[in-house]
Amino acid sequence: MTTPPSPQVAPANGRLGVLTVGLGAVASTLIAGVELTKRGLALPIGSLTQMGTIRLGKRTEDRSPLIKEFVPLAALEDIVWGAWDVYPDDAYVSASRAGVLESGKHIEAISDALREVRPMQAAFERKYARNLDGEHVKPISSKRGMLNAIREDINRFREEKQCDRLVMIWCASTEIFIEPGPAHMNIESFEKAIDANDETVSPCQLYAYAALLEGVPFNNGAPNLAVDAPVLRQLATDKGIPISGKDFKTGQTLMKTVLAPMLKARMLGLSGWYSTNILGNRDGEVLDAPENFKTKEESKLGVLEDILQPSKYPDLYGDVFHKVQINYYPPRGDNKEGWDNIDITGWLGYPMQIKVNFLCRDSILAAPLALDLVLFSDLAQRAGLGGIQEWLSFYYKSPQVAPGLYPEHDLFIQLTKLKNTLRWMMGEDQITHLGREYYEEM
Ligand SMILES: NC(=O)c1ccc[n+]([C@@H]2O[C@H](COP(=O)([O-])OP(=O)(O)OC[C@H]3O[C@@H](n4cnc5c(N)ncnc54)[C@H](O)[C@@H]3O)[C@@H](O)[C@H]2O)c1
Repeated sequence: MTTPPSPQVAPANGRLGVLTVGLGAVASTLIAGVELTKRGLALPIGSLTQMGTIRLGKRTEDRSPLIKEFVPLAALEDIVWGAWDVYPDDAYVSASRAGVLESGKHIEAISDALREVRPMQAAFERKYARNLDGEHVKPISSKRGMLNAIREDINRFREEKQCDRLVMIWCASTEIFIEPGPAHMNIESFEKAIDANDETVSPCQLYAYAALLEGVPFNNGAPNLAVDAPVLRQLATDKGIPISGKDFKTGQTLMKTVLAPMLKARMLGLSGWYSTNILGNRDGEVLDAPENFKTKEESKLGVLEDILQPSKYPDLYGDVFHKVQINYYPPRGDNKEGWDNIDITGWLGYPMQIKVNFLCRDSILAAPLALDLVLFSDLAQRAGLGGIQEWLSFYYKSPQVAPGLYPEHDLFIQLTKLKNTLRWMMGEDQITHLGREYYEEM
C-alpha cells in the first residue's frame, strides 16, 4: 500500500475562535486552564499538544521536538472564547459553581478573562436533557429557527471577535439516546425533518449542522448523536470540514482501553468486568435520567467487545459479563470515584482478579482533551483534511470511523496513529517499530 502524498499545511495565522457548546464544568476548566497557562500560572498537564514530544527518524538521530513546535498549531495566545449555555453564568461564575478549581489560586487570578466569556442563549429543548431547568434559551420553538439562530451566532461571533478561523466543540450535557434513522440519511431527509420538527433531530445535531454549513470543524465530547450520522458525515466530507467524536475518554474507559489490550496481548481470559462509579456534578445529575444514561452506557459498553474480538477468541472472551453503572452522588461533586472488578483467567483456566479504584477529577481529565481536539481539528482544517478524523480516536470512548470499519480502542495504537498522522502531514517517515536497520548496520 502506498502512502498518499503529504498535504500542504497552511500556517496558523491570526485568531482562532473556540466555540464551546455548554459552559459547564469541562468548558470552564478548559478556558481557565488555557488562561492560566498563557500567564505562566499553571502547567497544561494532560495535554499532548502542549507537553508531548514526537520522535522523528531513527532512534539514533535524537530528534524529538515538542509536538507544538513540529506542527503549526494555533498558539494559546491566539485563542478567543465563545460559548452557548442554558444558564446565563459567565465562565467565572460557572467555574466557581463547578467547584473543580481552587478559587484563590486558579479562578481569581484570571477573573477578568473568565468574566469576558458570557454564553449566548442556548438552542435547547428540555425533552433532550430533562434534568436541566435553565432559562437562558433561545425564544424559538422551531428547529429551523434554532438552526438559523445558531448560524447567526457563529457569524456574529466571527465578525465581532475578528476571528480568522473557528472550531466548535460540544461540551454540553449528554442528550437522550437517539439512533440514526430515516431523518439522518441525506440532506433532503434531514432538511425535511428539520422543517417538520422531527424529534430525532436534537439540538446537538442542529449545532453540528450549523457548524458544517458555516465551514467550522465540529468535535463531540459527549456520547449523543451528532456528526456520526450519514447526512453530516457526508456533508463534512463534501465540504472538506474535519469532524470527530465521540465522548471524551477520561476515567474508567481510559483505564479499560489500557488494561484490556494488555489482557489480550498476553492471551489472558476474561469472564467479567464490573465497573461502577459515583459522580456528583451536573453531568452526573443529567445522567441520572435513564434516557440520558442509556446514551452513555452504549458508548461505554462497546469498548471491550471491540478490543477483545470475542469471535476470534471464543475460548478467552466468548462469555464476558460486562456491567457499567454511574450513580449520582452529590457530595463528591466533580471528583468521581470509580471501582472496577475484573475477573480474569490464566494458564489452564485458573481464576484471578484485578481491582482498580480510580479517584479522579472528571473535568481535570477532560479539559486537556478538549484543548487538544480544538487545536488538532483546526490543524486538520488547514491541512485540507475533511470528514472523519480517525487519528483523533485517542481522545474518545466511541471513536468515529468510516462505515464498515471497527474502531481502534487500544490507547497506544491510537497514539501511534495520531503521531504517524502528524509525521505524514509534515513529510516525515512513518515509524513502524520494525527496527531492522539498527542490526543491519552493526
Ligand atoms: N468530564 C469528563 O470526564 C467527561 C468525559 C466524557 C464526556 N463528558 C461529557 O462532557 C459533557 C460536559 O460535561 P460537564 O461535566 O462539563 O457537564 P456540565 O453539566 O457541567 O456542563 C454542561 C453544560 O451544558 C449546558 N447545556 C446543556 N444543553 C445545552 C444546549 N443544548 N446548548 C447549550 N448548552 C447546553 C448545561 O446547561 C451545562 O451548563 C457532558 O455531556 C459529559 O457527559 C465529560
